[in-house]
Amino acid sequence: MLRIGILTSGGDCQALNAAMRGVVKGICSKRNDVEIFGFQDGYRGLIYGDFKMLTSKDFSGILTRGGTILGTSRQPFKMMRVPDKNGLDKVEAMKHTYHKLSLDCLVILGGNGTHKTANMLSEEGLNVITLPKTIDNDLWGTDMTFGFQSAVDIATDTIDRIHTTATSHSRVFIIEVMGHKVGHVTLHAGIAGGADVILLPEIPYDIDVIADIIQKRSASGKPFTIIAVAEGAISKEDAKLKKKEYKEKLEKRKYPSISYELAEQIEKKTDKEVRITVPGHTQRGGSPCPYDRVIATRVGAAAAKLILKEDYGYMIAIKNGETKKVPLSEVAGKLKYVDPEDSLIKEAKMTGISFGDK
Ligand code: F6P
Repeated sequence: MLRIGILTSGGDCQALNAAMRGVVKGICSKRNDVEIFGFQDGYRGLIYGDFKMLTSKDFSGILTRGGTILGTSRQPFKMMRVPDKNGLDKVEAMKHTYHKLSLDCLVILGGNGTHKTANMLSEEGLNVITLPKTIDNDLWGTDMTFGFQSAVDIATDTIDRIHTTATSHSRVFIIEVMGHKVGHVTLHAGIAGGADVILLPEIPYDIDVIADIIQKRSASGKPFTIIAVAEGAISKEDAKLKKKEYKEKLEKRKYPSISYELAEQIEKKTDKEVRITVPGHTQRGGSPCPYDRVIATRVGAAAAKLILKEDYGYMIAIKNGETKKVPLSEVAGKLKYVDPEDSLIKEAKMTGISFGDK
């Protein structure tokens, strides 16, 4: 008997179901003595022994379904060693559930925080295989995470729709794109949507440069400007602050997010009307795009292959178009940022896109 525990952890994204389907179909195509324990709401289910027994049938018909059939929750890594309100040691509780159910392995789908905990569980002696999910595409060790391309499609669609109304009204529009501390989604959606200015956390901006671009566009007969801004974008001034000082500044910020601060500054420095659009969680919603369905299926099948070989302790990555296993210890705790020297940035600049830096 092969006994597999499976969970999805952290913020959801498109193609989580497609990836789980890939794992289960891959295993069940080779073995028929499989028991699947689906843990509810990520690590929470593993901690408190909240699971449901699933069969391969439960993973049929879910390729195109958004969200996760298992539910998910955020269980911060830094809180894992802190006992819960009843004094329960969460790490010991997870190990207990694993051993009590005599699991052969855990399949964990998640992003950065999830991988820190997955690596810790692997170091604690559990058999773990992980799959790279997140719209942010910020997971170290893989070129691509599933969810990313679907989010890029949605953010691009938002920019496309804003383009027409921005043009009609000769307005400046700021579209705030998700991505946590990195700018991959904004960069790709910004280029695909023809944004005039793209602001990323990795390239601090100068508000005077942005104001100048808007004025020059107006003077040249282009009275509208589209600015794609990553939620984590930062000004040159703020980038000079120490991490702690910046955090304190953000806590005191009177605006709900970066876009509102930018809008106020632009209105002061130009004669333009500024509007803000925040697509927010729509970027994580709905069906996965075909590309995500394909890579989720691939990483799922590659995970199945490792499980059948009992080769544990890895994340399945997409590297140069191939599925590869990467040791969890190499992935945990590292972020994959946009490289300001990347050719994508240089090519975008050649087409006239400004990153607000000079
Ligand atoms: O990590 C995915 C992500 O959507 C980030 O882009 C965003 O910063 C964060 O999650 C939002 O988290 P929550 O769903 O908890 O509001």
